[in-house]
Amino acid sequence: MTKAKRMMQENLKLIDLIIELVDARVPMASRNPDIDELGKGKSRIVLLNKSDLADPDCNRAWMRYFEDRGIYALEVNSKSGSGIKAINGLVQKACAEKIERDRKRGILNRPVRAMVVGIPNVGKSTFINSFAGKACTKTGNKPGVTKGKQWIRLNKNLELLDTPGILWPKFEDNLVGMHLAFIGSMNDEIIIMEELAGDLLESLRELYPDAVAKRYGISGEPAPGSHGMARILEEIARSRKCFLKGESLDLKKAADLLVDDFRSGRLGRITLERSELPETQNTGERMDVRINAQEVDQ
Ligand code: G4P
Repeated sequence: MTKAKRMMQENLKLIDLIIELVDARVPMASRNPDIDELGKGKSRIVLLNKSDLADPDCNRAWMRYFEDRGIYALEVNSKSGSGIKAINGLVQKACAEKIERDRKRGILNRPVRAMVVGIPNVGKSTFINSFAGKACTKTGNKPGVTKGKQWIRLNKNLELLDTPGILWPKFEDNLVGMHLAFIGSMNDEIIIMEELAGDLLESLRELYPDAVAKRYGISGEPAPGSHGMARILEEIARSRKCFLKGESLDLKKAADLLVDDFRSGRLGRITLERSELPETQNTGERMDVRINAQEVDQ
């Protein structure tokens, strides 16, 4: 077992509530389903973070998806703080049973203890800073508090472990790997950018057919045949004047630009996974992610 997993299991023993962050643009690929098993018996909240970059209609649909499965969900933007205030109310709802159990045992005002978990880059640190704000007081190394653990007291009802639990992404599936590469949760150095850009163009063509043409002022029409997306990348390179020495096109630069524009929301608010699809299609093999090395950034 890895050190991170062991530490997570240790920390899980100390808490009542798991606050799981996912990336709202790919809420399935950015989860690790192992948390369902690891967090058995704990109250759960899923936060669709980076909701500012995702499609508002899809955010709502994904909230319903989680709620239908008995998990409280909320869309948030940890960078701006939007949606963060509503979390306290949701914590009370998600932990209602525990609070009632405590009350029956005569334990009053014992705060709920929570931990933030998520795969790398979903925004855990940004969220903790935003949620805790400046008003928080840290408690740690006090009697009754496990040595070395730092708890952030958010209010009289809630304490948060200050270090998030890092979940490991599930790369076994091609589509999951590709979606994680799109959002930047994989090491870009092991990715062939032109091919990732081709895959992104294909996904966008299916889900947001006007996004690319609008952004770059190009036709956005693929060439017939299997290399159709290469033509769109060439169009982007021309439109953004990505040239190598001489007149040849710098497709790597165009690919970097496209992927970067997607990641920062300049192509619009885009969600690449749909809640209405059967779960197998959100995680099943559909396209190919081509990675030029075995190791991935786990
Ligand atoms: P982690 O702890 O889970 O690894 O993630 P972290 O907080 O470091 O956030 C990863 C990146 O995601 C950061 O960007 C952060 O600003 C951004 N981010 C986090 N939450 C949100 C959100 O709700 N909306 C948007 N748009 N971005 C978010 P960065 O490029 O690494 O840093 P910076 O340029 O913001 O400083």
